[in-house]
Amino acid sequence: MGADGELQQALQSLRVYLQDLLDTGVDGLPVVSGPVSGKAGSSIEGQITGKDTAGQSLNVSETEEGGLQSELAEPEVVATGTGETLDDIRSELGKCILCPLGKTRTNLVFGDGSREARLVFVGEAPGRDEDLQGIPFVGKAGELLTSMIQRMGLKREDVYICNVLKCRPPNNRNPLPSEVEKCQPFLLRQLRVIKPEIIVALGTFAAQTLLETKEPISKLRGRFHDYHGIPLMPTFHPSFLLRSGPDMRWVVWEDMVQVLKRMGLPVPDMRRKK
Ligand code: URA
Repeated sequence: MGADGELQQALQSLRVYLQDLLDTGVDGLPVVSGPVSGKAGSSIEGQITGKDTAGQSLNVSETEEGGLQSELAEPEVVATGTGETLDDIRSELGKCILCPLGKTRTNLVFGDGSREARLVFVGEAPGRDEDLQGIPFVGKAGELLTSMIQRMGLKREDVYICNVLKCRPPNNRNPLPSEVEKCQPFLLRQLRVIKPEIIVALGTFAAQTLLETKEPISKLRGRFHDYHGIPLMPTFHPSFLLRSGPDMRWVVWEDMVQVLKRMGLPVPDMRRKK
């Protein structure tokens, strides 16, 4: 067999190998650099829905000598392809000081729950308890959220919980646009890794940030919105529920019923006491 034939055979074996990977669910391979790679977070489209393909991530080309040159290499940079893990993102964040909150926080609050979660809750930013413990939604609002998750027939460890901001703004002030700008790419990458079926945005800030709108939460809640291919249900923030009466909790429950139905999960029978 001539050099040409060997090359064709090698390319054919590579095609079969890549098809095998695709068939077994591997839909991306890391690359180091080059035209097909890009820093995750730079483009939202395709990241959340995991549209990256092996073809994009693995760049195999013929060299001038007719040999195979593969860009398959150590996952040294974060490629747009899949293969990134939550641990990778957490490590990259490290002791992040991309914004001034890095200097005032006690702990960076990355996220909590299952990497395989079908459902992700996104809040605003860590509060005092979360800052101290490094875990999202562990204070009073967190207790309410956890109890709502349980009432939905789920366990907290089955879902994933995180925030738009990873660090606590001093005195729980509203996040600044500059802080959101620095932090949001990491949230997008988390969502891209998890690829949930549904996202619940908790409160005005999360809903408005994720949906890039100024519409009030009262108008946004109660119906699904599209978030890069993922249905997103905005609802009231648990902190708001702590301050408002029981009626609002029923409103949130109605939103969660829609979430459960959309996920094909049973809806627990919750009757309002007369
Ligand atoms: N409020 C949030 O939005 N996030 C938390 O983690 C806690 C309270």
